[in-house]
Amino acid sequence: MSKLHDTDDIGVNPTAERPFSQIIDTLISRRGALKGMAAGAGAAIAGGAVSHLVLAGPAQASTASELPTTLGFEEAAHVIADSHHVAPGYDARVLIRWGDKVVADAPEFDANNLTVEAQEKQFGYNNDYVGFFPLPVGSDNSEEGILVVNHEYTNPELMFDGLTADNYLELITREQCDIEMAAHGASVIEVRKENGAWRVVPNSPFARRISMRSTECVLSGPAAGHDRLKTSADPSGRKVIGTLNNCAGGKTPWGTVLSGEENFHQYFAGDPSNSPEAAAYKRLGVSGKPTYAWGKYFDRMNVEKEPNEPNRFGWIVEWDPYDPTSVPVKRTALGRFKHEGGTSVVNPDGTVTIYSGDDERFEYLYRFVTTGKYNPNDRRANFNLLDEGTLSVAKFNDDGTMEWLPLVHGQGPLTAANGFASQADICIDTRRAADLVGATPMDRPEDVEPNPVTGKVYMMLTNNTNRKADQIDAANPRADNAFGHVIEMLPPGPDGKRDHTAKTYGWNVFLLAGNPAKPEHGARYHAQTSAAGWLAAPDNCAFDRRGRLWISSDQGSAQRKNGIPDGMYAMDTEGPGRALSRFFYACPRDAEMCGPEFTPDGKTLFLAVQHPGEEKNSTFANPSTRFPDFTPGMPPRPSLVVVTKKDGGEIGA
Ligand code: FEO
Ligand code: CA
Ligand code: CA
Repeated sequence: MSKLHDTDDIGVNPTAERPFSQIIDTLISRRGALKGMAAGAGAAIAGGAVSHLVLAGPAQASTASELPTTLGFEEAAHVIADSHHVAPGYDARVLIRWGDKVVADAPEFDANNLTVEAQEKQFGYNNDYVGFFPLPVGSDNSEEGILVVNHEYTNPELMFDGLTADNYLELITREQCDIEMAAHGASVIEVRKENGAWRVVPNSPFARRISMRSTECVLSGPAAGHDRLKTSADPSGRKVIGTLNNCAGGKTPWGTVLSGEENFHQYFAGDPSNSPEAAAYKRLGVSGKPTYAWGKYFDRMNVEKEPNEPNRFGWIVEWDPYDPTSVPVKRTALGRFKHEGGTSVVNPDGTVTIYSGDDERFEYLYRFVTTGKYNPNDRRANFNLLDEGTLSVAKFNDDGTMEWLPLVHGQGPLTAANGFASQADICIDTRRAADLVGATPMDRPEDVEPNPVTGKVYMMLTNNTNRKADQIDAANPRADNAFGHVIEMLPPGPDGKRDHTAKTYGWNVFLLAGNPAKPEHGARYHAQTSAAGWLAAPDNCAFDRRGRLWISSDQGSAQRKNGIPDGMYAMDTEGPGRALSRFFYACPRDAEMCGPEFTPDGKTLFLAVQHPGEEKNSTFANPSTRFPDFTPGMPPRPSLVVVTKKDGGEIGA
């Protein structure tokens, strides 16, 4: 998510103004949304400092056995360091790094001699989403499987000697841009646990790279073939080379991956103001001032030369990791925006719901419900389920209810009179459709995941420092929200059989992030959250097999100001330990935490360390960390980390 140039978070929603609401605190306490929690200085308790690493810092951890949590680990030290560290009793090892071999004939990594040909076969940059797909397909094998790893973006100042954040646009060469494109996309690798240790299986038939540069994708659903998706290279409007800014993701019940194309706007050059798409581009931040220089060298990345190319990005992309020849499909029925990811759940009636946040300030939460039903007996029968269904957007009411507002052509304002000639226009201009129906602007919706045990749905809202006091509402209750929060949504029905097709859900605030020892943060957790357990900027999340919530954080440049590393936090969602956040794993300096993903047995946790060393003065030659190699001349490398318990047991048990 974070980027030196900060263009991923531009806040372009013109309808963000909300009526002033003064009811927040009374509302929250009235309906008991934060029952069992405490705010302010009293929330932190002093415990014995327990840390497996001796690291300088004020953060203290408390002993798990003294607390009402079901999580049994002692907290990791809540301090920033050059390398990563994990809770005592656990091992954290790097499994694969940027530049390591993915496909069989990939060359060895050579940091001083990057080539396009090599990068297309090697592990890409800035690993984000991690999905574990057991082998064989349909099994719950926890010791052998396929990992799908997204590569969201690149840090050229850390990849190429001589480039800085300031001189990048001027100095980067065509070949370096080509390497950047090859480093975007995803990697598919096979992994195996042998004698307790995980390794990448060499020469796996499943291994592949998907890149922005060369992987042919297809468009399907209501917008496929639409005139607004046609380009000179693709007069059909159905074939796109590449996928872009693949951030978080998810898995379908039929074992395919869903990858979110997030901040696609920052790659397109050219003045958009005279384009027929000018208004649409403005709403999405395609501004003519790209972060990346690709438009200098590649016509399709310049909207003056190829005005429809940006319309071919910003989708959920589905492919089958079990078939290395499968063509990634951009599912237009799920709408186009800055998809953080896409997570799924099967409903009691057999339909499937996909949740997806639009990660930008004052943007919305979406839901897609398939028309067809999931067929658990015929995997391939599900392969086009995501082409037909109902896309909706969330409206959060201050009374603790929420409504799903359908984005369906011909309904309400979504007609030709407002510029929507068909469902295809709603798919392409989803944000504008959501504006018109009255969706609730949120504080940057990141990962949104249903708890597999209870069916309650959790939304990470990372932060929004642009929200003013007269823009707060019950679901976004803090002005200048620097630390973010987590919302819990309650589809109707009993645990495990909740109806994710319902028009109305309940909701409440699960936690408000920030430091509970600083009353000015307005943080709220379980009253016994320790001085090490507080977090800032929740981003990705995962549930373990017991339904406990694991949150990864991404503070971006605020990491140094906040004085805590990004990493993993774990907590119960039910019972006396609800929202008692415990710190488990620390990223190295200037990295954000991505992944996370458990194996079905809960004994392995895969984590993605993204952009180690990303800081404004940090460069290839003089980086702020050289994680994970720490050898002279080697720049930091985004890395996939595997965490296991030293005794071989369940993580967090
Ligand atoms: Fe790429 Fe919203 O994080
Ligand atoms: Ca994210
Ligand atoms: Ca996740």
